[in-house]
Amino acid sequence: MTESNDRKIVIFDTTLRDGEQSPGASMNLAEKMEVAQALVDLGVDVIEAGFPIASPGDFEAVREIAQSVQGSVICGLARCREADIDRAWEAVQHASKHRIHVFLATSAIHREHKLRMGKDEIIQRAIDGVRRAKGYCADVEFSPEDASRTEIDFLTRVVEAAIDAGATTVNIPDTVGYSTPSEMYRVIHALRERVPNIDRAVLSVHCHNDLGLAVANSLAAVEAGAGQIECTINGIGERAGNCSLEEVVMGLRTRNDHYHAHTQIQTRRLVPTSRLVSSVTGIHVQRNKAIVGQNAFAHEAGIHQDGMLKERTTYEIMRPDDVGFAKTDLVLGKHSGRAALMDRARTLGYHLTPEQLDAVFDQFKVLADKKKDIYDGDVASLIEQQMMTVPERWSFESYHVETGTGRTPQVELALRRGEQVVSTTMSGGDGPIAAVFLAIEQLTQTPAVCKDFHVHSVTVGKDAQGESQVVLEHEGQLYRGRGVSTDSVEASAKAFLHAINRIVAIKNHQTPAQTAGTGKE
Ligand code: KIV
Ligand code: ZN
Repeated sequence: MTESNDRKIVIFDTTLRDGEQSPGASMNLAEKMEVAQALVDLGVDVIEAGFPIASPGDFEAVREIAQSVQGSVICGLARCREADIDRAWEAVQHASKHRIHVFLATSAIHREHKLRMGKDEIIQRAIDGVRRAKGYCADVEFSPEDASRTEIDFLTRVVEAAIDAGATTVNIPDTVGYSTPSEMYRVIHALRERVPNIDRAVLSVHCHNDLGLAVANSLAAVEAGAGQIECTINGIGERAGNCSLEEVVMGLRTRNDHYHAHTQIQTRRLVPTSRLVSSVTGIHVQRNKAIVGQNAFAHEAGIHQDGMLKERTTYEIMRPDDVGFAKTDLVLGKHSGRAALMDRARTLGYHLTPEQLDAVFDQFKVLADKKKDIYDGDVASLIEQQMMTVPERWSFESYHVETGTGRTPQVELALRRGEQVVSTTMSGGDGPIAAVFLAIEQLTQTPAVCKDFHVHSVTVGKDAQGESQVVLEHEGQLYRGRGVSTDSVEASAKAFLHAINRIVAIKNHQTPAQTAGTGKE
């Protein structure tokens, strides 16, 4: 696919740092470890695992990933401050390949209003920060924050100084997503023309998506000679998000004739990784999302279907299997065995331990009794449910609700706590789901306000599984929960309990490593 004169573009993934800054996307330690391993399997060159000084939880997560995830460079973010840089090093030092990423804002707006620093002071601070990081680690990245709104003459000076101080990568962030593709091209081109030592560093871009231009701006930067792209799975990140990894990678691959550049991404792992990130962050991927959306390869119009049947390339520029959509949505059923389930799980991109496979298989049998055809979406949902790593203090046993138009629901609910089953009977709520939520709050003695709630169908048909997601507020903090069942009331009860279990985990004074970002926003 790649030509001999192709440039290799370094893929720097910041799903665990900038991506985690998406409202509602925080992940617990186990979830971050799982995502980090998936990123290695995907083939990303650099994983920005977090911002170690930001919180003890962030620090623990970066340190754990550095110690146990092998294959990619593990990077920690730091402001140009000694304490930040020391903490970042403490977190990444045990990685077999490590990087410290220091940043400092350079635009006039940030200099005047945020930092209250002059240009010379900024340059000196950048030099000191890069030197301190360099004292620890050969691989140092420097980012002039808000670079795209920085005067080009000053940006040129900053970049030269950072490289002289030892930066091996210089990243150009479009922090507020303000740039356009031609502007981004001009900035990268100008830096390559005007910074005398530019050959000693990799030029990188980091584009936010406020105007929906993050991918276009990143590709324009590559055209102008950038050698690294910073991006996130599903494009998650601050505000409107970051450059989407799957889009930019497939852009380079599909239009190799134009960009003459390639990455080492295993593109068949794009869909499984997208699903994993969506599942652990609770951020849904829109159906029409390029590359990984459910409709990305669906041809609805008759004229398109006719063309596709005659010759695939009439309407298809990429193959669905190249990005990891399984070739067929093979249906499993109650007679399918463990081997078939394991095979399907592998095809969908999940690596299950024998214990996880046992647990998923048990759930699969329960589901197969309720539902004749089990689709890929069902299997993925069962696996993700099994991989949800919140300690299960409370689990769902059963419910019964009597209700109707104009009637206050009467609910009986039973929950399990360890060996013990506890139950309650009460009336209240506007409908069966609200009634069950009230009963859960009463039984678990955990008051919570439901801030967001939705249910959607995982696959098709009247017997499709419903997946419910909730966001609860408890003592000023937000907690996510997710549950799946063929019964939408039960799915909702499970989602509510999942969020309650997150609250209980925090309250149980677990170590920071266990509680870090436990879905707490
Ligand atoms: O958007 C931004 O400027 C950042 C920097 C820390 C690179 O995320
Ligand atoms: Zn950013």
